[in-house]
Amino acid sequence: MTDSLSVRDNRTGAEGELPIADGAIRATDLRQFAVGDERLAAYDPGFMNTAACRSSITYIDGEKGILEYRGYPIDQLAEKSTYLETAYLLLHGELPTPPQLAEWEQAVNSHRRLPDNVKTLIHGFRFDAHPMAMMMSAVASFHTFYPDSRNIHDKESRYVNILRLIGKMPTLAAFAYRHAVGRPFVYPDDRLSYTENFLAMLFQGSEPRYATDPRLVRALEVLFILHADHEQNCSTNAVRSVASAGNDPYTSAGAGIGALFGPLHGGANEAVLKMLREIGSLDRVPEFIEAVKAGRVRMMGFGHRVYKNYDPRARIIKATTREVFDAVGVNPLLKIALELERIALEDEYFVKRRLYPNVDFYSGLIYEALSFPPSMFTVLFAVPRTAGWMAQWAEGVTDPEQKIARPMQIYTGKPTRDYEGLYDRN
Ligand code: ACO
Repeated sequence: MTDSLSVRDNRTGAEGELPIADGAIRATDLRQFAVGDERLAAYDPGFMNTAACRSSITYIDGEKGILEYRGYPIDQLAEKSTYLETAYLLLHGELPTPPQLAEWEQAVNSHRRLPDNVKTLIHGFRFDAHPMAMMMSAVASFHTFYPDSRNIHDKESRYVNILRLIGKMPTLAAFAYRHAVGRPFVYPDDRLSYTENFLAMLFQGSEPRYATDPRLVRALEVLFILHADHEQNCSTNAVRSVASAGNDPYTSAGAGIGALFGPLHGGANEAVLKMLREIGSLDRVPEFIEAVKAGRVRMMGFGHRVYKNYDPRARIIKATTREVFDAVGVNPLLKIALELERIALEDEYFVKRRLYPNVDFYSGLIYEALSFPPSMFTVLFAVPRTAGWMAQWAEGVTDPEQKIARPMQIYTGKPTRDYEGLYDRN
């Protein structure tokens, strides 16, 4: 006997069985309870309890604070893997063998360069343009340089354009940053790893070879691994939704970057730093907590739609702050963050609502210690999330069950009425 939900419609007395598969009923099965023209649909703003796809990429148990990519626990990947290896895992489903990894790294790194027109596009932005705006438009423009990317049903074309995007994202991010600070672009250095090269393109000055502390390179690798995917979050949902109309990876990723820019999503780490600066000193923490509890402000970097427990990424990032601060000195805002967390974890308001630090609570402190300006924080999320977006994009466009994403609405407007001439209106 298959699992099912027995339903009785008390408007009509109609009874039915809704099959349950994988812990879900099919919303379309509710249609059997329509009464004449009156349909029966599911209303779920923000997709609080609606699965929009089947996915084998990332697993989250928000109650227990578990995050896994392709079955591998995030803490093991953060400790042992590299970003490019993790990206391979997300896209291929398995960890690579040594030759596979070498080939993959070579392939991604061979796509680091940007078309000249993209540089012109970046130069067209005002000096104070947010780098996320540059990222969004440049990524959306990529399909014009690589028209084969529109062949989304061709496996080879999908693969090469995914490689291109993962390869180009750090270059684009670095160029957007250098444009914003008025410094000349630094071109990719093929001798450097993905993250080392990214740091060099960002921060190299007049020295012939950029050298950085390996502890900082490793910290960036860890942050990139933690941000690589997070199942159906807001930006991934945007990517999948745009892809469902038959779009190429660049157009779809452009939508993802837009979603990630929002302060409730990827923009939260920038907001956390702003919040910590506004609080300014330890003695003002209780006053701030009172303002949060009175509903006047939100504690940025706290709370999560899925995690009702400590976000496992926040735990790893908190540990990484120690290593980074050993290398570059302690960010003075850390003590305010630690005090906010200490109070919040004991306070009834936060405990009752199950609000814990999320991935953004500590990441901004590290980014600031690494000399990134706040406007780059969300960019540092977009670069590694590209691997997840691409894995999800490919899974979505090859899923025979997927249809164009087109939700319904509950119409709350005026009933039908006749058009009135301009001078006949009261
Ligand atoms: N500070 C204070 N109260 C909060 C917070 C917060 N950060 N987050 C949620 N709450 C409260 C709400 O006021 C609400 O209280 P109520 O029941 O008394 O009305 C309750 O907790 C539930 O909150 P919702 O907004 O309904 O939860 P939702 O799942 O829709 O939102 C979100 C999740 C957007 C992440 C929210 O917790 C938030 O705004 N956090 C701050 C922004 C942030 O850090 N975003 C990054 C998320 S991680 C990521 O995107 C990478």
